[in-house]
Amino acid sequence: MSAREVDEIIESYGSSKSSLIAILQDIQSEYRHLPEDALRRVAQRLNISLSEVYSTATFFQSFSLTPKKREVCVCLGTACHVRGAPKIFAEIERRFEASEWLRSEYQVESVNCLGACALAPVIVVDGKYHGRMTINSLDDALPKEPSE
Ligand code: FES
Repeated sequence: MSAREVDEIIESYGSSKSSLIAILQDIQSEYRHLPEDALRRVAQRLNISLSEVYSTATFFQSFSLTPKKREVCVCLGTACHVRGAPKIFAEIERRFEASEWLRSEYQVESVNCLGACALAPVIVVDGKYHGRMTINSLDDALPKEPSE
């Protein structure tokens, strides 16, 4: 992450202390964590102490100081369950077991409802919703290992 990228995020909110959380959210969302050099830059640009930035960065669970794995989220709520979510979940787990790359980059989570029951069964990959999932449509929805 370059200082320029951090500056662009800061400038989109204005260099006011009240923008700290919004700025940290954008950095977290862009880089899946809050790199130390970015936090130093934020402190410098907002003219606040680094400890103040760290105290906000460590207070909220949604922030992380180390890179988080990306997420495949599978809904096992009632609507999804009756439409085959357990089989989808089992197949995703099977594919994760078979792929070291998937395991190193992603984690699988299950939830009770994603608020999109009309699209059941639903999974979310990198924040993108995929509805009416079938075993076959997993090929399109799941992340693909980059070719070398
Ligand atoms: S039960 Fe799966 S989205 Fe609501």
